[in-house]
Amino acid sequence: MTSERVSHQGEWSGSLTFFLAATGAVVGLGNIWKFPYVVGQNGGGAFVLTYLLFVVLIGLPIFMSEVMLGRRGRQSPYNSFYIIASEDQKSRRWAWLGGMVSISGFLILSYYSVVGGEVIAYAVRAASGTFTNQSADGVKSIYNTFRDNPEALLAWHTVFMVITCLVVSRGVKHGLEKTVKILIPALLGLLLILVAYTAYTGSFVNGASYMFDIDFKKLLFARNEAGIYILDSNGSYRFTFKGILTAMGHAFFTLSLGVGAMMIFGSYLKREVSIAKVAMSIAFADTLVAIVAGLAIFPIVFTYGLSASQGPGLVFTTLPIAFGSMYFGSLMGTAFFLLLFFAALTSAIALIEPTVIWLVERRGMTRVQATAWAGIACWLVGIISVFSESGVTLRRIFYVLAGFLDIPDIELSHQIFDLTGFQIIDSVVTLVMLPVGGFLIAIFAGWIMSPQNSRDELNLKNDLYYKIWQALVRYIAPALVFVIFVSGLIEWIYKYLVYQPVM
Ligand code: PFF
Repeated sequence: MTSERVSHQGEWSGSLTFFLAATGAVVGLGNIWKFPYVVGQNGGGAFVLTYLLFVVLIGLPIFMSEVMLGRRGRQSPYNSFYIIASEDQKSRRWAWLGGMVSISGFLILSYYSVVGGEVIAYAVRAASGTFTNQSADGVKSIYNTFRDNPEALLAWHTVFMVITCLVVSRGVKHGLEKTVKILIPALLGLLLILVAYTAYTGSFVNGASYMFDIDFKKLLFARNEAGIYILDSNGSYRFTFKGILTAMGHAFFTLSLGVGAMMIFGSYLKREVSIAKVAMSIAFADTLVAIVAGLAIFPIVFTYGLSASQGPGLVFTTLPIAFGSMYFGSLMGTAFFLLLFFAALTSAIALIEPTVIWLVERRGMTRVQATAWAGIACWLVGIISVFSESGVTLRRIFYVLAGFLDIPDIELSHQIFDLTGFQIIDSVVTLVMLPVGGFLIAIFAGWIMSPQNSRDELNLKNDLYYKIWQALVRYIAPALVFVIFVSGLIEWIYKYLVYQPVM
């Protein structure tokens, strides 16, 4: 049966608008800051291939499901699940899934905003010529000094969060379309210029083959991991699921899935628009930006003998080297970090929107009040990541607490205490909450919602396409997510609670 519901927040003007807005939400720090460093930490090509496979087999069908559910329910994720479940006489407790996914988005934003703030700070640095003629070591030490300064990080985090809240409080749709129309092509253009530059100056071939040479040993075996299967004779390289789980988590993260964002964006989508077509174009654009970002960053890693596996600082310690040595480098660097800031902003908006709309619908707040409350709460949680950037681990926090409480000589040798608050929030959200949310969304779309309603809402041209989508959300996506998630979880418990690494 066709639904006649309308969204109280209005509608996108057409499919191009939706494409632009959703691409803005999807393309962000995940493509340029996160993708290269997770590729680097998980050994390159085999990770990239696995991630691409997950985008197609898990990401796309769940993306379509989220947009479809949002358009059907026309409200916040919480209420949309409630309405659709009621319509099909199923348990209304499914609404809690909407609540859970909104919390995931909120948690991501807490650290996304800290990195977004760093990006603004880097735009300012590039503009003031800080990187001009800097060596690789110089760029690294600029980054380290910056990270060790929590006050500055906190200030930039505040700036990012305030700007996000200002945009959200005015309503997501105003301004978003225009920004994205210029933003995405410009960002891609600048990345391509960087790729051309790195191709010209250095190890482009090494960088490209790092991303495309498929060596599963690098993905599946890692030093000092918790696995049982041992690769080398001294027993230090062990089998691990972590790389596969990270590839899956990243597919969710980069496509903005499992946080209700695509549901909320779908709730403003006109009925005539083809969800399948637009979902495929968005996934393609997202993947393209990530691959091009990798092609710009890895050649610099190899030219300057840097470490691909250094982690979250990768983009901040590689690209400025190129900006520092190229013609018009300050201008290019400023433009690049500004564009990245806008890409992060259009994603941040999508991260907080489900919580804001939920507060509006459930608590009767105005949009402005809801944004203020959600923004302040998120800013506070973000402080954890500010201190994590300066290297504050759980061990340091416990030692400080022990000092306050006068507990002498606590023994915190276990490796779990090496983690920072940022690592914990990021792992719990990307490796647990997003996959669990995505799994349940697939189950809901495939099994709980009546096929009659999902067929009507997806409105695919050919029934075969519907059958393919249905097979993916009913069987393939949930099975893959389940197996990888459970294996990863068992390994995690083993690693942190049982296993002692070979040093
Ligand atoms: N997809 C965004 C990125 O790659 O940066 C991150 C993100 C944005 C996740 C919005 C979820 C979301 F709702």
